[in-house]
Parts: sequence; structure tokens; C-alpha cells
Amino acid sequence: MKNDEIKGTAQNSTGETPALPNAHDAAIIDQFTRQAVPFSIQQAHSKESFLNLLLEMSGVSPEDNVLDVACGPGLVACAFAARAQHVTGIDLTPAMIARAKQIQRERQLTNLTWRIGNVLPLPFPDASFSLVITRYTFHHFIDPQAVFAEMVRVCRPNGVVLVADIALPPEKRRAFDRVEKLRDPSHTSHLTPAEFLQMAEELKLREVRTEFVKSERHLETHLQASFPNPGDDEEIRRIFREDVGKDELGLGAHWQGNEIYFAYPILILAGRKTG
Ligand SMILES: C[S@@+](CC[C@H](N)C(=O)[O-])C[C@H]1O[C@@H](n2cnc3c(N)ncnc32)[C@H](O)[C@@H]1O
Repeated sequence: MKNDEIKGTAQNSTGETPALPNAHDAAIIDQFTRQAVPFSIQQAHSKESFLNLLLEMSGVSPEDNVLDVACGPGLVACAFAARAQHVTGIDLTPAMIARAKQIQRERQLTNLTWRIGNVLPLPFPDASFSLVITRYTFHHFIDPQAVFAEMVRVCRPNGVVLVADIALPPEKRRAFDRVEKLRDPSHTSHLTPAEFLQMAEELKLREVRTEFVKSERHLETHLQASFPNPGDDEEIRRIFREDVGKDELGLGAHWQGNEIYFAYPILILAGRKTG
């Protein structure tokens, strides 16, 4: 399950912050520094019904002390802060944390703490949080299973761990990962629903619940918030055009008038840490 195809870029496992980011972390910081504002204003990322489903599946309550792992611009963290006692957001990209602080100020929320740092390992003691969440992140990790294990470690017994990310069947991996890496060179690989469930089982989560949501996108709007290498945007448009009616990408690409639309299939998995 490790996204091993990225050679020589293993994340730091010593617990120390490396003096210089490795190649993969550098790609993350490069992409998400540019994406910080465009990502945060894409309507799809603040869709209320989706955020409400995350809140509902997590069972968040006013007593909860929440950790949002790779929180980006803090859209999910701020939604949880409106319901929880306190939320901590951690992210590798300083520009994302700067944007998160701005959004927090705009929403006049006071119960949030932001941290710049790598999520592998998470810089928190065991059992620090009652609820540990992450959205749209596992497809950026080289070792998603290790991050999932870290999320469980910092969650207190009987607390809830929730992961929401793109999930596609294995036969879509090759085509999807290719186009997604063109759109965002910091992409590693999507996981399958079975892989998510297997990880949850190995980490001994109980009362596991899953939901599937389609996150709909207009290709051109999505490309405007993306930073592919020069020329790759045309290749992405070509791949999507050719995929209409074939669905090798697994995204249901289709025409509406002269425009291409598609949807990311998102798996939301929530489970309780064994007490
Ligand atoms: C697609 S964004 C998702 C942001 C946020 N979770 C949301 O759903 O709105 C992915 C985020 O993961 C962060 N990220 C990726 N790898 C990371 C790592 N190893 N440690 C910390 N943050 C990381 C990026 O900086 C980026 O902000």
C-alpha cells in the first residue's frame, strides 16, 4: 500500500524535522503554496452538505479536542471548530497555514491552533485528541498507512478517527494516477475502498462506518486552481475529452454543452479507536 514508486523520497521517520525538505515534501510545498488561495475558494471544497456529513459521521460534540491532519486552508478545521471545544490543524505548507489563519479570523473563531509541520510522525504525544480527522490527503502521502497509524496513536481510546479521500477501484489506478500527477505533480496514488477498509481493520478500529460521496467538478474551473507543468494542461484536457463514454479514469467525465464535468468519488471512513 506504500506509494513506493517515488524513489528516494521517504518521509522522515525519526521524529525530527529535516533541515531541508525531501523531494516529495518539496513538491508538496511547491504545489500547495501556489494552490493555497485558489484551493480555499473553490466552491466544491466548502460544500455544506459534504462538511455536514463529516461532522455527522465524526459525532463531534462540544467536549471534543480535534486534530485536523494536513489541514490545508483550514476549511474542515473551521467547520469542526464551530462544534468542538478546540481544533488543532497541522500542515506542511506555510502558505496553507497562513490562509487558514486568515479564514479563522474572517469567521471570528477563537478555538483553533495552527502548526506547520510534517504529519509523519505527528508531533503529539499518544492519546492527545478525542477526534482525529483528515480530508483529501492520503493521495499525497508516500506511506498513507503510516499516517493512518499515527492518527490512531494520537487519538485517545474510544475516540474517533475519520478519513475522507478519493477512492477508486484498482483497475482505474493507472489512468487516474497518470492524469492526476499531470494536474498536481505532488499526487502519489489513490487508494481503493478495500485498502481503506483493510487499514482500518489492521489498526483495530471498531464501529467502522463508510459513506461514498461524489465531489463534482467543472474541468476548466478545476484547472484554474491547479498548477500543472507548462503544456500539461492541454494533455489533461485531451485525456478527459477522450475519456468521455469510456470512463477509464473512473470519474464519469461527460460533456454539458461545450464543457467537461466529472466527479471525484470520495470515501469517508470513520471508526472508533479500541479502548
Ligand atoms: C488537497 S490539500 C487538502 C487540505 C484540507 N485537508 C482540506 O480538505 O481542505 C492537501 C494538503 O496536505 C498537505 N500535506 C501533504 N503532505 C503532507 C505532509 N506529509 N505533512 C503535512 N501536510 C501535508 C498539503 O500541504 C496540503 O495543504
